[in-house]
Amino acid sequence: MPVSGQLFDNADRDGSERIGEGAVLFRARIASQAGEIVETLREITAISPFRHLVTPGGHRMSVSMTSCGELGWMSDRKGYRYTAKDPRTGQPWPAIPKLFSELASDAAAAAGFPDYHPDACLINRYRAGNKLSLHQDKDEEDCGHPVVSFSLGLPATFLWGGFKRSDKPKRLLLEHGDVLVWGGPDRLRYHGVLALADGEHPLLGQQRINLTFRKAG
Ligand code: SIN
Ligand code: FE2
Repeated sequence: MPVSGQLFDNADRDGSERIGEGAVLFRARIASQAGEIVETLREITAISPFRHLVTPGGHRMSVSMTSCGELGWMSDRKGYRYTAKDPRTGQPWPAIPKLFSELASDAAAAAGFPDYHPDACLINRYRAGNKLSLHQDKDEEDCGHPVVSFSLGLPATFLWGGFKRSDKPKRLLLEHGDVLVWGGPDRLRYHGVLALADGEHPLLGQQRINLTFRKAG
């Protein structure tokens, strides 16, 4: 095991770990629903498939992405933004399945953010070597709402940074079924994901899928 949340000496009896004033990691919280989530994701990606986006600086992202929700996230040479339609299909993004939004709002409530109703869910697919550099999630209109993240498949090292890109991030291992919620004073922390290590996951094979829910509009 390379690194773990044991870096944070504050595990609760229910297996949750508070990693910041407004941030909680719930280990394996959605593990028992993972099969159903993955099945539902196949329906979503059949409509709006994974694709590699290009950053405003012209770099092709190594992670491939799609979205579901009233709003989906987009990046191209013109910038980062949310759109109501998938630019690839010209159609609205698939709706957020009820199972997803219920699990996301339950986790948000357990972390201290009641009445959370996400309208966007970004879906990232990582294969070996894919990574996500340090960034802030700040394309949402009102950052008063938390981000809720579901991790599925291969484990990844998540970087939990500060409020400046140059702040040295802590590392925590996100594994299959883990849910991380960050909001309030932690909402604009820099974060990222180290290059995914090779592996084989019983449900997802050689990949990691991450869902992040936001209230974007
Ligand atoms: C993100 O920062 O948007 C995704 C994080 C992750 O893949 O765990
Ligand atoms: Fe992010």
